[in-house]
Amino acid sequence: MTDHLTVVYGASELVVGPEGPTGIEVVADGAFAAVDGTVVAVGPTQDVLAEFPAENADVAIDATGKTVLPGFVDPHTHALFAGDRSDEFVAKLRGATYEEILSDGGGILRTVDAVREATDDELVTNLTGHLDAMLENGTTTVEIKSGYGLDTETELRMLAAIDEAGSRHAVDVVPTFMGAHAVPRGMDTDEYTEHVVSEQLPAVADQGIATFCDVFCERGVFSADQSRRILEAGLEYGLTPKVHADEFAAIGGTDVAADVGAASADHLLHTDADGRARLVDAGVTPVVLPGTAFGLGADYADARAFLDSGHEVALATDFNPNCFVRTMGLVATLASVGMRMTPDEVVRGCTSAAANALDLSDGRGTLAPESTADAVVLDVPSIAHLPYRFDTNPVSTVLKSGVVVHA
Ligand code: NIG
Ligand code: FE
Repeated sequence: MTDHLTVVYGASELVVGPEGPTGIEVVADGAFAAVDGTVVAVGPTQDVLAEFPAENADVAIDATGKTVLPGFVDPHTHALFAGDRSDEFVAKLRGATYEEILSDGGGILRTVDAVREATDDELVTNLTGHLDAMLENGTTTVEIKSGYGLDTETELRMLAAIDEAGSRHAVDVVPTFMGAHAVPRGMDTDEYTEHVVSEQLPAVADQGIATFCDVFCERGVFSADQSRRILEAGLEYGLTPKVHADEFAAIGGTDVAADVGAASADHLLHTDADGRARLVDAGVTPVVLPGTAFGLGADYADARAFLDSGHEVALATDFNPNCFVRTMGLVATLASVGMRMTPDEVVRGCTSAAANALDLSDGRGTLAPESTADAVVLDVPSIAHLPYRFDTNPVSTVLKSGVVVHA
C-alpha cells in the first residue's frame, strides 16, 4: 500500500505552533505536508512543494488567500445533555442569578432530570449534533464532561454515550468524569462526596472510559476539602484532576488544583495574584471561558495577568445549557474584546495551550513535524481576522489526520 500524502499550500498565514512563552510561529505563504496523517514538513510553500509536489498528493488544497491553523482543541465542555433551559436565560435577564437558580433546585439539577429520563440513543443523537456543529466550526478535539447524572448508573451512561458518539465521529473526544458537578436534591454535600468517592469512582474506573476527574469547587457546591478528597481519590484510580475554580467566589479551588497537580484550573473569574501564582508554580494550565462570563454578564477572567507574566492561557467554549456556544471562533472574539488577548495569544489559546490543558503530548494543537495533521483552513487573509470577524463561520475546510472531514 502506498503512503497517503496530504499537501496544503499557499496560505497567506500558516500557524506552525507555539513560539516563546505566549506567542505563535507564523509562516507567510505557508504550506505543510503530511504522510499517513502525520505532518512531515512545514514552512514556505516553495520549500514544501519542492519536496512534496501537489500533483503527487492524494489530498492537495490550494489555500491561496486563506489562513491555516492547527485544528481547534476545545478543552472544557459539558456538551452531552438533554432538555431546554432557555427559560432560565430569560429568568436571568429578569435578575435571577445562576447560583440562586441552582440552589432552588434548577440549573444543573434540571438538566440532570432530563438526562436521567433520556434514552441512550437520545443522548448519543444529541451529542452527535453538537459534534457536527463543532467540526463545521473547526474543532477537531473536544473534552466532554459527565456530571448530569449524579448517580452511578447515569454517570456511567453519560460516559458510555460520550465514548459512543466520539468513536463514530471525526472529532476526537476526551471524556471527563464529573460526578461532583452538583449535589443531587435531598442529599447532604458530605454524604454525596462520600458517594462519589466510594460508589461512583470505582465504577467509573471499572468502566475504563474517563481520562480526567473534575469537580465544581465553588461556594454552595463542593468545598475545597471535599474537592480535594474527590480528586485525590480519582488520582488513585488513574484519573487526572481538573478543577472548576473561582467562577463565583475564590474558595480555594486554585490551591486544590496546585496541590493535586491538576492538568488545568478552569473559569478563574475571581482568582487573585496568589491564586495565579499557585497555578503557575504548580504547572497547572489556566483555562478561561469567556463565553460563560459573557452569558452571565459577569466580569471576565484576568487572562492578561497570566499572559503579561509570561504564561500561556487556554481557551474553551464551556458549551453547556447555561452557555450555548460551540464555536471557538466566537470564543476568540470574546477573548480579544473581553480580555484584551491578541490574535496570537488567542490562536495559541485555542490550539497548543488547549492541548496542554488536556495533557495531550502527540503534537495536537500544532502543525510541527511529527504532529497529527489536524488542521483548519479559514477563508480569511490573516489570523487577526479570526477574532476580528464575528458574523459568519470563516472555516472552509477541516482536516483530521490529513483527511478532509469537512468542506
Ligand atoms: O462550567 N459551573 C459549572 N458547570 C458549568 C455549568 C453547567 C450548567 O449550568 O449546566 C460551567 O459553566
Ligand atoms: Fe464547566
